[in-house]
Amino acid sequence: MATVKVHEKVFVPYLSSEEIIAKVKELAEILNKDYAGKKPLFIAVLNGSFMFAADLFKYLTIDAEICFIKLASYKGTKSTGHVITAIGLDTDITGREIIILEDIIDTGKTINQFLPQLYNQQPASLKIAVLLHKPEATIFPVPIDYICFTIPNKFVLGYGLDYDGLGRNLAQLYQLKED
Ligand code: IMP
Ligand code: MG
Repeated sequence: MATVKVHEKVFVPYLSSEEIIAKVKELAEILNKDYAGKKPLFIAVLNGSFMFAADLFKYLTIDAEICFIKLASYKGTKSTGHVITAIGLDTDITGREIIILEDIIDTGKTINQFLPQLYNQQPASLKIAVLLHKPEATIFPVPIDYICFTIPNKFVLGYGLDYDGLGRNLAQLYQLKED
């Protein structure tokens, strides 16, 4: 299948649209069972998870709500380093069954630093569902409950994931071509 070029880098096909959708559907069916009779609130982390969240939601048959947040990491002016800011968590999660939707857990830093803010609000439960997990890249521990694909430590593109802003529109996943 054809390679794609984004910002002068070449990417090769990795996971087909069919493979991805099949896995996402499988995850939805598991969630339909695990959350039967409940009304979970999904928190999708922008930008990368928009496609994963949209497809997953189509296959949910339980009552479920969704909201979106955006996590931004800044290099602080203080020596304490990076700060993670949550933008737009406008829903009260106290006592709710929460499922975080992330595109990928790479170093784990983003989610690891965001979790305490959520636990502080005392949800009834808090689980994490990810499309992709790169265990070899993980530095910060993240308790992941649902994983669609475990992948090697290589840069991937498409299905919502970008390379410097581009490539999110690709319906399948690509992997950076080795030189
Ligand atoms: P973290 O390192 O686990 O905090 O990941 C932070 C964010 O980096 C993820 O949510 C993705 O948006 C992005 N990211 C990590 N690995 C990749 C990749 O291989 N391709 C595209 N984006 C990535
Ligand atoms: Mg992301």
